[in-house]
Amino acid sequence: MAVLLVAAVVALWTDAVPMAAEPRQGAAEMVLEGGRQGPVPFPHHRHQAALGDCTVCHTVFAQEPGSIERLKAAGTLKAQSDVMNKLCVKCHRAERKAGGRSGPVTCTACHQK
Ligand code: HEC
Ligand code: HEC
Ligand code: HEC
Repeated sequence: MAVLLVAAVVALWTDAVPMAAEPRQGAAEMVLEGGRQGPVPFPHHRHQAALGDCTVCHTVFAQEPGSIERLKAAGTLKAQSDVMNKLCVKCHRAERKAGGRSGPVTCTACHQK
């Protein structure tokens, strides 16, 4: 009985370790809600690789599908300013200015109708 219990505890422990070591990366490609301007395709894993830091975005909104729209609906995030302008466009402009690889800065390059 004691042996079985130990085996069960060890099995639980070894199952839990890889999950703790590797955070869920989320979808590689996403399409974000862009309202009347049209949806915004977003290469999530390319950003993870280029930036190497989840907190750049995920201190503003959680690592959950639909978190941006939920926070906008709750009034916690302002549409267009808190994510689009202060995060996406701000960084793309700065990266572009610094001469590195960057992303779009014009409306129709992000919003696809
Ligand atoms: C440049 C911004 C950015 C960075 C950096 C970023 N993410 Fe995300 N992530 C997003 C966006 C945008 C969403 C979608 C949120 C929504 O649906 O409202 C998202 C959603 C997620 C989700 C939930 C969606 C799904 O497919 O399960 C997970 C999990 C996630 N991210 C994990 C990570 C991890 C882990 C890192 C770091 C290795 C990371 N993200 C870095 C922007 C980013
Ligand atoms: C770098 C990509 C990017 C660029 C460039 C961009 N947008 Fe956005 N836009 C987004 C994202 C992501 C959202 C959703 C998050 C938010 O509302 O901040 C959004 C949201 C919006 C919304 C709000 C939708 C709603 O929920 O009500 C409008 C309107 C909008 N954009 C218009 C524009 C216009 C006009 C331009 C050009 C001046 C522009 N966008 C440029 C990515 C972009
Ligand atoms: C902190 C900096 C940073 C933030 C925040 C950021 N990006 Fe980017 N983005 C980049 C960099 C750097 C690249 C170039 C990556 C590469 O070439 O591998 C890029 C590339 C892109 C591309 C691909 C363009 C192409 O040539 O195919 C899109 C689309 C894009 N970003 C959209 C967004 C949207 C939408 C958001 C906000 C939700 C966002 N980005 C937030 C830095 C950022």
